[in-house]
Amino acid sequence: MRIDVISAVPALLKSPLNESILKRAQKKKLVSIHVHNLRKYAEGKYRQVDDKPFGGGAGMVLKPEPVFRCMEKLLSKRTYDEVIFLTPQGKKFSQKKANKLSLARNLILICGHYKGVDQRVIDKFVTSELSIGDYVLTGGEIAASVVIDSVVRLIPGVLGDGESALSDSFQTESGFDSPLYTRPAVYNDMKVPQVLLSGNHAEIEKWRFERGKKKYQKVKKRNKKI
Ligand code: 6GU
Repeated sequence: MRIDVISAVPALLKSPLNESILKRAQKKKLVSIHVHNLRKYAEGKYRQVDDKPFGGGAGMVLKPEPVFRCMEKLLSKRTYDEVIFLTPQGKKFSQKKANKLSLARNLILICGHYKGVDQRVIDKFVTSELSIGDYVLTGGEIAASVVIDSVVRLIPGVLGDGESALSDSFQTESGFDSPLYTRPAVYNDMKVPQVLLSGNHAEIEKWRFERGKKKYQKVKKRNKKI
């Protein structure tokens, strides 16, 4: 998979994309992630990427020309499955959408910043607008990192244990992972549940399923109240 990210503040994407599992996935050539600095596509002495909105109002808007230039360069080289604009006004991102995107060959993510982007960018290029939740961030970069992280870890070979992604929260029938324990079996008088030490795999699976389901129902109920 190839992912191109267009951003006015590329530094924000640096460490989320270049540490841990995402770093390893790129090293193993399972994904290549290219961050494009909008400023490099801007003209004039100050390489201005944003401007005041026509009609007035607070905040700044990303100018169309730098985004168009960057997009046209990318589209001249290959075709893309999706061009995603990250905005709090987008459709809510979900595990289902992550699963779908993980099958793509080439993706473009455009990060909004300031108030947003000139509508002509959206009209011309964008195939879907995504939000990561009902709150407002200063820009799309952190949201793009969230989307990329959740998608890349689903690419076969990215996670060490092939089972891991399938047993994730939101992927399993019970909804959530069960509580997890590791060594030591007793820590400061706190014991690991006996069933996990029993070696009885059928019993362990049953316990995990039930505990995962219980946690899922509790969290679902809590989220409904908010
Ligand atoms: Cl994708 N962008 C911004 N700026 N804020 C958000 C968001 C995206 N998703 C939730 N809040």
